[in-house]
Amino acid sequence: MFPKVNPAQTDSWADLEDLYEEISKEPIIEMFNNDPERFSKFSIQWKEFLVDYSKNIIDEKTIAALLKLAEECQLKEAIEAMFTGEKINETENRAVLHTALRSNSTEPLLVDGVDVRPLIQTELKKVEAFAKQFHAGELKGYSGKKLNTIVNIGIGGSDLGPYMVTEALKPYTVEGITAHFVSNVDGSHIHQVLQKVNPEETLFIVASKTFTTQETMTNAQSAKDWFLDYAKSETEIAKHFIALSTNQTAVEAFGIDAKNMFEFWDWVGGRYSLWSSIGASIALTIGFDNFKELLDGAEAMDIHFRETAFGENLPVILALLGIWYNNFFGAESHAILPYDQYLHRFASYLQQGDMESNGKFVDRNGDPIAIQTGQVIWGEPGTNGQHAFYQLIHQGTKLIASDFIATAQSQNPVGDHHPKLLANFFAQTEALMKGKVEEQVVAELLAAGKTEEEIDALMPFKVFEGNQPTNSILIKKLTPYNLGAMIAMYEHKIFVQGVIWNVFSFDQWGVELGKQLAGAILPELQDDATVDTHDGSTNALINQWKAWR
Ligand code: F6P
Repeated sequence: MFPKVNPAQTDSWADLEDLYEEISKEPIIEMFNNDPERFSKFSIQWKEFLVDYSKNIIDEKTIAALLKLAEECQLKEAIEAMFTGEKINETENRAVLHTALRSNSTEPLLVDGVDVRPLIQTELKKVEAFAKQFHAGELKGYSGKKLNTIVNIGIGGSDLGPYMVTEALKPYTVEGITAHFVSNVDGSHIHQVLQKVNPEETLFIVASKTFTTQETMTNAQSAKDWFLDYAKSETEIAKHFIALSTNQTAVEAFGIDAKNMFEFWDWVGGRYSLWSSIGASIALTIGFDNFKELLDGAEAMDIHFRETAFGENLPVILALLGIWYNNFFGAESHAILPYDQYLHRFASYLQQGDMESNGKFVDRNGDPIAIQTGQVIWGEPGTNGQHAFYQLIHQGTKLIASDFIATAQSQNPVGDHHPKLLANFFAQTEALMKGKVEEQVVAELLAAGKTEEEIDALMPFKVFEGNQPTNSILIKKLTPYNLGAMIAMYEHKIFVQGVIWNVFSFDQWGVELGKQLAGAILPELQDDATVDTHDGSTNALINQWKAWR
């Protein structure tokens, strides 16, 4: 039974409010000075991951109260409900089983009386066979040339996950294969990609769970028209277009044969779908064996999440720390700062994963929520972010908790780049914690030859308060396995937070309104008639566009 506990009415919530008063102003560095065991108490080593959360504004009492909150909100029961296929996505009456997609278990797992395990394996084998044919050069285009380029057309979960993963695992790309991703309905996106590809050698992958999404269907139609200009015959579409979807009728109506469709199911949420057939673009880019490694890494994290005590459980701890800052410190956002260039799309990917899941204002009983729920997730790779927005984290007025992510081994150990990158990774969390005290500023300014008067004048601007909380996630190497595990870790973090905030994390009704209104406006843009059916601002904007177009 999926729990529906109001977290603000638990005993631990009240305890945490008291603990916040006790600890919120306490310098983290003092806590290190007072406890030589602090790092070992507040860090977790798991496989090739070291997650250090000791640079947070916490002590043992805080963690104990947060763990009690997880228990009072019946997290254990919620985890079991998800893994066993209960229909925890109640507003859509669906199970949530992305974990089954990466599971090697053969124990039956029933959804509406049907064991989903064989379905998953059949589809995975189909992706494997197709990827192997592709890489063996057995898939030929309309002119007889081997296909060697993919263009994935999708948006949201049908784009962000596969795009992020293929970028993160670029060093594993199969030789000779090029991958492109088109998502935006802005014609410039598809235009730019089509300019780079050869129709004779390109496979278009139309990725859409519903196969009705406006952006994807528009891009797919434009790709098809472009392709037919070269191939001249509809029968050639079968060689160059495949579909990843749950909607066979719409796939066939578009002109893609059902045998060129890779299926998945309504119990796979869009933003959790990269493990399904939606991951075909990943398998085609990095090879099926690497795709399977990605799944295996995620499965290892699933097992860790399901079986490990909450105090040693990576997703649970990360989620609880997020709740600590969101709900007790009033932190509005959380930064994701990977010190690995290959993870340059990771924050964007997590924005959908997190914000589309937990951006909710109604609880699981249908009542408005009085506490804060989902945070704003944002970030950029370090060190670029250091030269852009870190100033605000260091000296702004907001508390911003961050996840610093780094890989110990570089994929490209060029000169001393990696030690320099890592020096920044280590330095930033230290600087964010320690800040800069008056004595340091005085010493620096004296050494620079400043007078006492000048030092007094500069002092307020040079002091950093510090005490900005960070998690450091150090991973041995960004392998497919480790990436799979890290993505799953964040998926489960999001799940835990949703459980505790008492929201339904697997629907996204808010996205629908914009889609509906865009659908209503589109016909009004077809002619030059003045529009007056909206509010004053929207009417004026549309009419100005008509005047300028
Ligand atoms: O943004 C809303 C959304 O429904 C996402 O949840 C989903 O990942 C995306 O649109 C794309 O949907 P589809 O795969 O059905 O085209």
